[in-house]
Amino acid sequence: MKKPIIVANWKLNGNKNFVQEFIKYCNLHLNKNFKKSTIIISPPIIYIKYIKKFLKNKKIYFSSQNVDYHDQGAFTGEISANMLSEIGVKYSILGHSERRKNHFESNKIIAKKFYSLKKNNLVPILCIGETNKEKKLNLTEKILKKQVDSIFLKCGKLAFHKTIVAYEPIWAIGSGKSASPYLINKILKMIKKYIIKNSSNNIKVYMQYGGSVSYKNFEEIIRLKYVDGVLIGSDSLNFKNFCKIINISDFINK
Ligand code: 13P
Repeated sequence: MKKPIIVANWKLNGNKNFVQEFIKYCNLHLNKNFKKSTIIISPPIIYIKYIKKFLKNKKIYFSSQNVDYHDQGAFTGEISANMLSEIGVKYSILGHSERRKNHFESNKIIAKKFYSLKKNNLVPILCIGETNKEKKLNLTEKILKKQVDSIFLKCGKLAFHKTIVAYEPIWAIGSGKSASPYLINKILKMIKKYIIKNSSNNIKVYMQYGGSVSYKNFEEIIRLKYVDGVLIGSDSLNFKNFCKIINISDFINK
């Protein structure tokens, strides 16, 4: 039986009022639920301490949406993995296509961030994915393997042990149309096998899918053999839908 890992990526959304409403809703509707799922919320970093304090359910984990690879120093605007750890953050999303595109993050930079997270005992949630153009040119496998290889190169053969790899095809993100279940399973299987083949020991790596996951398609996706969890953007901002997803996850696990 799998224990689905559900990550809510709020991106640059939310404000004080939204956060208060979110906490209120979850405190009413979430408390008794999700014994069989791992729930991780990734809000803008400044809200984490507040949510942690007022959310009654203490089994929810927190993730950052970014991290710097330096430990400290003259790096204005950045936050280190150790700082995240000090405020109780256990996970960090990295390599998201929005950061690759808007912040020019290369595979090499992402690998350094991955390294820093592992050094500080945080769990990386590595996003990988191809553009629509790359998909049409049949480059998906090549692109994904390259994104994975840079992590191996920097972090060694045990890099992926106890980490999360999220396949987020760029063409599906925010489109309202997820990749087909067949494709999701096929790609996650390919990547998982590739990671295991290139690792030195019997490692445990968790595979996620992200890209227009909603409460409507969640069940079909989470039931797929190679899906250990999902990374949800816009539907995680809708409290009702987010709680519905958690309830479905717990229900199908019984
Ligand atoms: P959407 O669920 O809004 O498509 O976003 C997916 C995503 O980017 C999660 O990291």
